[in-house]
Amino acid sequence: MAPAPLLVVAALLLLSPGNHAKNLHPVVLVPGYGSNKIDARLTAAYEPSAPSCGAGADQGWFQLWPNHTGMHDASQVPCFADQMSLVYDAVADDYHNADGVATRVPSFGSARGLIGWDPLVRRLEGMGYREGESLFGAPYDFRYAVAPRGHPSTVGDRYFRDLGRLIRRASRLNQGRSAVVVAHSYGCALTYQFLLARPLPWRWRFVKHVILLAPALGGFAEGMHGLIAGIGYGLPNVTRPTMTRLARSQQSTLWRLPTPMVFRDRPLVVTKNATYSACNMAEFLEAIGFPEGVRPYVTRVLPMWEALPAPIVPVTGVIGVGVRTPEKFVFGTEGFEGEPEVVYSDGDGDINMVSLVAIEEWSGVEGQVLKVVRLPGVHHGGFFSDDFALKSIVAEIYEAGGSIELDWKW
Ligand SMILES: *[C@@H]1O[C@H](CO)[C@@H](O)[C@H](O)[C@H]1NC(C)=O
Ligand SMILES: *[C@@H]1O[C@H](CO)[C@@H](O)[C@H](O)[C@H]1NC(C)=O
Ligand SMILES: *[C@@H]1O[C@H](CO)[C@@H](O)[C@H](O)[C@H]1NC(C)=O
Repeated sequence: MAPAPLLVVAALLLLSPGNHAKNLHPVVLVPGYGSNKIDARLTAAYEPSAPSCGAGADQGWFQLWPNHTGMHDASQVPCFADQMSLVYDAVADDYHNADGVATRVPSFGSARGLIGWDPLVRRLEGMGYREGESLFGAPYDFRYAVAPRGHPSTVGDRYFRDLGRLIRRASRLNQGRSAVVVAHSYGCALTYQFLLARPLPWRWRFVKHVILLAPALGGFAEGMHGLIAGIGYGLPNVTRPTMTRLARSQQSTLWRLPTPMVFRDRPLVVTKNATYSACNMAEFLEAIGFPEGVRPYVTRVLPMWEALPAPIVPVTGVIGVGVRTPEKFVFGTEGFEGEPEVVYSDGDGDINMVSLVAIEEWSGVEGQVLKVVRLPGVHHGGFFSDDFALKSIVAEIYEAGGSIELDWKW
């Protein structure tokens, strides 16, 4: 390791929580999938799929995600799965909640609303960042995504507007200093598309630096498997058709699919009859019995990931490497109903190496500042629990904050 980061880490260790920092570039945190709360309310239009699901009908707002009861009580699990599902309306060409389920994301703007980020938030506060003054969080409804121009995406578009306002507010509250945006996992994909959707002068004015933790800008192989077998969320006693329906209903699950640009034609799912790669995804969706997914995938997802233009704001990628990561799913005589044999390769446990390093393509691009930090053995979900990972994230945020002057108490 070069001496500079070591010095930074050493210096940070000397900071104590009481220290006040001046002239900070504000930090805006964008969490990954499932890393903030979603509230729900059942309206008169709600039709319970089982009698026990009507229980919440009169209670007003409740916490849909995460909800220990809803997710672990066998009688409530089907209700939870129903209420978490989305519907793709082919006529409107947009996604919406299940009928009779209203949702909202609490604590927009707050870093404290993020699930699992506490250790990082506390360290940032130790550096002098203050919640609501120089430190912000941008939670969102992670079941949704955005769509290319010309395709409506009501929920995702609103999030991008809110995120833009939050970044501007963060800057305004800090004497116009631009923000450091720190995103994790799915939040990286959204942040990247958010930046591309803003004019360059906006990016330069309001975004000092973007730190992408475990970005998967090319999707990942497990994304295909999730559409075959469903997303379990660790739910007990939930049937496979339920998990599959839930996974396929969400707009964001199509964003997990490996992209042709990054994965090219590597075989990712293999059956007795066929081999599927990122390049024949429509055939794959048909083959697994999800033909409704083809149109949204082809018209709403693929166009956003056909190329990976550099955002032309400084980027630091921090990626976990050297963790066994599923890369190929081989199905036997039972076809997609059976359990696949899984072939592993390098990555962060969830995201394949090719996708983690997709951002390195920007290294030669004029005007693009890029640094990629590899963290051996750090798992996709371990960024905020692993001390080694936390130290390096804090050091990168410190470095990205650039001209900040800390009011050190030695
Ligand atoms: C969890 O969900 C159930 C409905 O499934 C609801 O009745 C309960 O209030 C929720 N729990 C919390 C803490 O909101
Ligand atoms: C849920 O599954 C467990 C085993 O996975 C089983 O022991 C239990 O009886 C099941 N509960 C219900 C209500 O089906
Ligand atoms: C393979 O092809 C045969 C005949 O076309 C079909 O019946 C079978 O379901 C296919 N198996 C898989 C795993 O796709």
